[in-house]
Amino acid sequence: MLSFTSKTLILIIDLVTRAFPFALSVSSINTHARKKPGVESLTGFAPFILLFLVVHCTARPLYPLPSRNTHGSRQPLQTFRPFNIAHRGSNGELPEETAPAYMRAIEEGADFIEADILSSKDGVLICFHDVFLDNTTDIAKHKEFADRKRTYEVQGVNTTGFFSVDFTLEELKSLRANQRYSFRDQQFNGKFEIITFEEYISIALDAPRVVGIYPEIKNPVFINQHVKWANGKIFEDKFVETLEKYGYKGSYMSKQWLKQPAFIQSFAPSSLVYISNQTDLPKLFLINDFTILTEDTNQTYWDITSDSYLDYIKQYVLGIGPSKDTIVPIVNNYLQTPTDLVARAHAHNLQVHPYTYRSDNNSLRFNFSQDPYEEYDYWINKIGVDGLFTDFPGTLHKFQEWTSSKSSHDSDNKTASELLHIIANLVSSYKRT
Ligand SMILES: *[C@@H]1O[C@H](CO)[C@@H](O)[C@H](O)[C@H]1NC(C)=O
Ligand SMILES: *[C@@H]1O[C@H](CO)[C@@H](O)[C@H](O)[C@H]1NC(C)=O
Ligand SMILES: *[C@@H]1O[C@H](CO)[C@@H](O)[C@H](O)[C@H]1NC(C)=O
Ligand SMILES: *[C@@H]1O[C@H](CO)[C@@H](O)[C@H](O)[C@H]1NC(C)=O
Ligand SMILES: *[C@@H]1O[C@H](CO)[C@@H](O)[C@H](O)[C@H]1NC(C)=O
Ligand SMILES: *[C@@H]1O[C@H](CO)[C@@H](O)[C@H](O)[C@H]1NC(C)=O
Ligand SMILES: *[C@@H]1O[C@H](CO)[C@@H](O)[C@H](O)[C@H]1NC(C)=O
Repeated sequence: MLSFTSKTLILIIDLVTRAFPFALSVSSINTHARKKPGVESLTGFAPFILLFLVVHCTARPLYPLPSRNTHGSRQPLQTFRPFNIAHRGSNGELPEETAPAYMRAIEEGADFIEADILSSKDGVLICFHDVFLDNTTDIAKHKEFADRKRTYEVQGVNTTGFFSVDFTLEELKSLRANQRYSFRDQQFNGKFEIITFEEYISIALDAPRVVGIYPEIKNPVFINQHVKWANGKIFEDKFVETLEKYGYKGSYMSKQWLKQPAFIQSFAPSSLVYISNQTDLPKLFLINDFTILTEDTNQTYWDITSDSYLDYIKQYVLGIGPSKDTIVPIVNNYLQTPTDLVARAHAHNLQVHPYTYRSDNNSLRFNFSQDPYEEYDYWINKIGVDGLFTDFPGTLHKFQEWTSSKSSHDSDNKTASELLHIIANLVSSYKRT
């Protein structure tokens, strides 16, 4: 009786995914522009609206994403498999930490969108990775800022460049983001602006399914040296206040958390301890490469991965976020014997979310035959991690979907009434657009 072939269904879903999310993104952007005094108009977003059209027409998903919710309420966060954490958005494709990079990550199936939080000179929290603007913006082209170049000590190293802490938000908004790596697609350079922490949160809250946020308290020692807030508030206070303003609260897996999932991350253990009595949101302690000291407490890699330290830090954090090369060391681009870090963290009941997974051929270890799926298979099924920070959330999502017994079972077993429901929703969303 249902004469729809699966091809017809995919075609209809395709048409709707082109029309409907686009309408969604425009209306949500509109609301932010009105809510946020700092964002003057829609015009700054015009390029990414255009991009959105392009992306939707050329890079359509091959299967209905979880975001294509057809049952009224938003599809919940998946909690049955390791978390797909979109590192700086879908930054393998689009300039990192920009609105299009985050929207693309959501479209591609990320569970969490990840951001580095820094501050402008006037104390507005922004999404940006480096403390200086040089490597990922067009600051070099802005002659009006030529005299802003400074040298500051950053984590014990004198660093020269243009620092975000010397620019107001309005000035930062006049810059445009660039792709960090020359071996990646450069066509979106100069098109998208830097976004604030609040704009990033709005992107997650407006997603058509539940998408978590994963903000980092980035370079807190440096930020607190250079930026001062009213009433003696510090960076960490403003960070938690922003999360609370948008309703982020609750411990891991609580009802409130599942509604608006968030992980807080930092390389600075004292920041995590400091906020521990301000929010019960789950926190992850990031662990840098073997040779790097913690920026706040000057501890070595060996100090902070000892059993006694894991015992201490587990009072404050849900897990650790180590560089993946400290879990499986690399020599000449070959994997060596894995360390016991994952086993010891799990023995302390700590989750492990390593960073960073990249599909670029120059990032893949020779053991993986230039195949990112082999890398995910190794880390998920052999090493057994609980979350993965990836520059290519679409690749990780496809790997997880195509190897998940749950999802294939679901898609092969749609009842006729479920199919009718989907079609009814497609028709009504057409009427709306
Ligand atoms: C920024 O670019 C410079 C010059 O290409 C490079 O040496 C440096 O490692 C980059 N820094 C970061 C944080 O990417
Ligand atoms: C950075 O430069 C200043 C001024 O030249 C100097 O006093 C300081 O020792 C330098 N710091 C480092 C870590 O090199
Ligand atoms: C939070 O903890 C700090 C020290 O860890 C303490 O000084 C402060 O009083 C605590 N604040 C609250 C509200 O419990
Ligand atoms: C860490 O080292 C820096 C510079 O070497 C020093 O200024 C700072 O006081 C040290 N911090 C701690 C907690 O020992
Ligand atoms: C990776 O390749 C190297 C070199 O062939 C080999 O020694 C190592 O055991 C391999 N590791 C894994 C996990 O396959
Ligand atoms: C990656 O691919 C590029 C472009 O094809 C090539 O120039 C480069 O040598 C490759 N790098 C590695 C490590 O395979
Ligand atoms: C398909 O779904 C029905 C009803 O939900 C269930 O009873 C049945 O076991 C499922 N079949 C398979 C092969 O999973």
